Amino acid sequence: MDVEELDSIVQKQRAARKEICIRCCMASGCVSSRSDDIKTAMQKAVAEKNLTNRVEVRRVGCMGLCSQGPLVAVDPQGLMYEHVTVESAPSIIDALVGGKAQAELGEAGRPFFARQLMVVRANEGRIDPERIEDYFDVGGYRTLLRVLHEMHGPSHVIEAIVKSGLRGRGGAGYPTGLKWGTVAKSGGAHKFVVCNGDEGDPGAYMDRSVLESDPHKVLEGMLIAGYAVGADQAYIYVRAEYPLAVSRLQTAIRQAKQHGLLGSGIYESPFNFNVEVRIGAGAFVCGEETALMASIEGSRGQPHPRPPYPAERGLWGYPTLINNVETFANIVPILERGPDWYAGLGTEKSKGTKVFSLTGKIRNSGLIEVPMGITIREVVEEMGGGAPGGARVKAIQTGGPSGGCIPAEHFDTPVDYESLFNLGSIMGSGGLIVMDEHTNMVDVARFYMQFCMEESCGKCIPCRAGTIQMYDLLTKIVERRGTLRDLEQLEELCDLVKHTSLCGLGQTAPNPVLSTLRYFRDEYLQLLQP
Ligand SMILES: Cc1cc2nc3c(=O)[nH]c(=O)nc-3n(C[C@H](O)[C@H](O)[C@H](O)COP(=O)(O)O)c2cc1C
Ligand code: SF4
Repeated sequence: MDVEELDSIVQKQRAARKEICIRCCMASGCVSSRSDDIKTAMQKAVAEKNLTNRVEVRRVGCMGLCSQGPLVAVDPQGLMYEHVTVESAPSIIDALVGGKAQAELGEAGRPFFARQLMVVRANEGRIDPERIEDYFDVGGYRTLLRVLHEMHGPSHVIEAIVKSGLRGRGGAGYPTGLKWGTVAKSGGAHKFVVCNGDEGDPGAYMDRSVLESDPHKVLEGMLIAGYAVGADQAYIYVRAEYPLAVSRLQTAIRQAKQHGLLGSGIYESPFNFNVEVRIGAGAFVCGEETALMASIEGSRGQPHPRPPYPAERGLWGYPTLINNVETFANIVPILERGPDWYAGLGTEKSKGTKVFSLTGKIRNSGLIEVPMGITIREVVEEMGGGAPGGARVKAIQTGGPSGGCIPAEHFDTPVDYESLFNLGSIMGSGGLIVMDEHTNMVDVARFYMQFCMEESCGKCIPCRAGTIQMYDLLTKIVERRGTLRDLEQLEELCDLVKHTSLCGLGQTAPNPVLSTLRYFRDEYLQLLQP
């Protein structure tokens, strides 16, 4: 592959464009509501009306407003249709032909999109994730070309990532440029890059959507990372519950190889890089980086103590860079538009945008990408449209089992790493679950404790035994059998498990209990025996 070949593919692609493009969402959410049949029905209607010269029906990834799916969009008219069915699909074509097409996006849908800023998700819902030509058409793999031939070596790339202020999107928010610098400086005959696509938090599906909708963007980010840190082999770890993401990634890897974008001498440079997909078996703890590496190596997926950190001694003892899917998906936009542009988005310490899956008791649920610093209220009330049926929103939960619940009186807080932490929660990987006035917060805490208890790998006693004991105490309280002594014991256990567990799963398992005790203690007290 060289620049002439890239240009020629893009020219051909543009020459083949039709006057009208009908985009059908074919990410998991809409596919589960038969969007593949809807696309076929659209294609049939286009053929029957002799419109194949004018109208293209395109498979695309997730458009975001999943609660209103299956979604179909029409360009250049800028229309979006909700809840499309196989039966209603031909009428969209009829309306287009008759010049009567009009936006069917409900009133609630508009604010959902109005506040978004698409950086990671810019191509999602627009390009066909199974065609590398579509990715080339939106500038794909040109950043890699520039990195290899125009930037002044790997250190220049790392400097740009440091300057952008990007922090890891897998949960902890560790500075990405700093991590890349550590791996680059670590000596070793080999180095590895790993993309963490394990995504186990209940209610979270941001990474699945990126992988299903724009897999080449993640691959290009990984290639750039590999060049920057000096690695030549990478793995993408994806859970087995994500079969569509796995198959689209495998297609993307095959296409990139066919075009010489993976393998040896990439873009006629000395850079060699290969990527393989590794499928996880759905254990939440395998998202923890040391357990994930053990799983890739073929061992049981259990964490081990750090240090040594993966950046120094990772896969098979070699320096390994591990980043989250969304972290890698930020790399191309940062280098394409410049680190200063990126650093100008967000807040002082939390730069750029964040993708959230907005779910729970909320009218518009789906995927949103918002600038850091937006308030919780803007997300929940404006974009999400509040709770269905006019119920009062009581709290949100962020950060999954490692996070906490934030009550409505703090909804004017900006969404950034520090502010959410100060409220007793964390940014996490992007699950944002809304609870309304009918939700019992002790039950919520018990739900997350049950999750941790079931997902605990059992390696260390505080987590293995402590999560069971905490779950039993919460059950006793929920069933109105608990006493004040049980509540005290629960709090003592939270402290013990937090400070003595081996890995992040146990260390953070008490968080949902602690945050609900902090803000909703009354609900616990009301359930206790006199
Ligand atoms: C129990 C547990 C589960 C985790 N699950 C994930 C996950 O599914 N995806 C992820 O990217 N990071 C997960 N992490 C964080 C990773 O260990 C690691 O910090 C992250 O992949 C680093 O990438 P980043 O710097 O880009 O955030 C998990 C951590 C713990 C303790
Ligand atoms: S804290 Fe829990 S998940 Fe982590 S090593 Fe210990 S038992 Fe396993």
